[in-house]
Amino acid sequence: MYKILNTIRNKIFAFIYPLINNFVSGKNKFLRNYITKNTSGNILEIGAGNGGNLNYYKNYNNLILLDNNIDLLKKSKSINRCTILLASSDFLPFKKSSFDSIVSSLVLCSVDDVEKTFNELNRVLKSKGKYFFWEHTIINNKIIYIIKNIFIFIWKFFTGGCNYNIDNIFNINSIKWGKLKIYKKHSRLVKFLGLYYIYGEIYKY
Ligand SMILES: C[S@@+](CC[C@H](N)C(=O)[O-])C[C@H]1O[C@@H](n2cnc3c(N)ncnc32)[C@H](O)[C@@H]1O
Repeated sequence: MYKILNTIRNKIFAFIYPLINNFVSGKNKFLRNYITKNTSGNILEIGAGNGGNLNYYKNYNNLILLDNNIDLLKKSKSINRCTILLASSDFLPFKKSSFDSIVSSLVLCSVDDVEKTFNELNRVLKSKGKYFFWEHTIINNKIIYIIKNIFIFIWKFFTGGCNYNIDNIFNINSIKWGKLKIYKKHSRLVKFLGLYYIYGEIYKY
């Protein structure tokens, strides 16, 4: 039963998400540019979805777009030296120190086990490599948190499992294997959902 629900949920999200992405593409240019502009060498993007960041990569040897939703991946176009891969971020099918750069955008909210994912990122990222992220996090307001929790099941069903109550400031700060730079960005649209964006990078020791 859970498997069937999950498949339906993934298909719904694969239909809805590219439409939303198109609609807000102008607004997200700054953030997509930030997380990609300093990537280089072998790049891994986790939770790449339908390839929203693809047009922004300029400098790379190999680019891997990884996602665990086959229906969304099918909607991504491919470019030169780019591989599209079905896999989960908490069990990455790569050897230790395979990548110079790792990217995630709006992914941690729907990952089942964030700690496992971070451990995997640490394993496959080279020393002196960089992990660039753009994620959302909850605003600090108990009442909004409780109200959002009432609707979370419905919200998750239509958004590919997105936990809009996730505290990604806490999650990102739990990473101890690199030096962190983190910035906040508020936007009217996400504020309406009791969220704001965080973006930045982790420079691995
Ligand atoms: C909101 S979408 C963001 C897509 C894309 N990064 C973007 O910026 O447009 C979140 C994506 O993360 C993927 N995802 C969630 N959990 C994942 C996991 N454990 N492993 C790989 N991908 C995952 C989802 O399938 C979905 O494509």
